[in-house]
Amino acid sequence: MTRQPALLRREGTTLDGRPYRIRPTQPGEAAAIVALQDAVAAEGEFIAALPGDREAMEQELLLSGILSSGGLSVSLDVGGTLSGHLLVVRRADHDQTHIGDLAIIVENAARGLGLGRALMETAIDWARAVRLGKLCLAVFTTNERAIGLYRSLGFVDEGVLRRQVRLSGGDRDVLLMGLAL
Ligand SMILES: CC(C)(COP(=O)(O)OP(=O)(O)OC[C@H]1O[C@@H](n2cnc3c(N)ncnc32)[C@H](O)[C@@H]1OP(=O)(O)O)[C@@H](O)C(=O)NCCC(=O)NCCS
Repeated sequence: MTRQPALLRREGTTLDGRPYRIRPTQPGEAAAIVALQDAVAAEGEFIAALPGDREAMEQELLLSGILSSGGLSVSLDVGGTLSGHLLVVRRADHDQTHIGDLAIIVENAARGLGLGRALMETAIDWARAVRLGKLCLAVFTTNERAIGLYRSLGFVDEGVLRRQVRLSGGDRDVLLMGLAL
């Protein structure tokens, strides 16, 4: 599959006036991505992960496997600092290779500025360009901001897994969402 780098690059200014850049994740960035994931995990309410779940080397291997399987990894810099990351993992089952599973995080201080939307739009444009048939994601039913963003981009609800994730703060229901492309 041909990669189209220009498709994966966006630049602009955040709603609060800082320069941002979306670009393909670079080799050697795994430690910074793990630190970002750990910070979001430590908030305890948005993702099913604990700080320290993954080491940089594991993340590096994971990313290279995702890319070599036709997936996507894009990074977001705000003011030159890694502030967000988005992954699309291509499904391997022979009857589901048209599906990509999407995961996104934006650091706390950069939320609500339109950056999550810019990352999602980058991923959707890419998914259409590489002729994926569908993007899927899973989100806690309590995550109103994320669900609002996904719905505004055309994702629809596809089901709820009750008490699917056990966190220290309590069990969470998981909403499955999909976007047919
Ligand atoms: C979810 C997340 C990626 C969204 O990114 P973001 O940069 O904060 O979002 P944006 O500012 O681009 O978009 C906000 C959109 O969400 C929606 N939104 C924002 N706050 C909302 C709220 N309280 N309730 C409902 N919708 C809300 C709006 O549709 C808004 O769109 P707009 O451009 O029309 O105003 C980010 O908040 C994040 O990383 N959160 C923690 C980790 C996480 O939840 N990851 C997703 C797990 S499934």
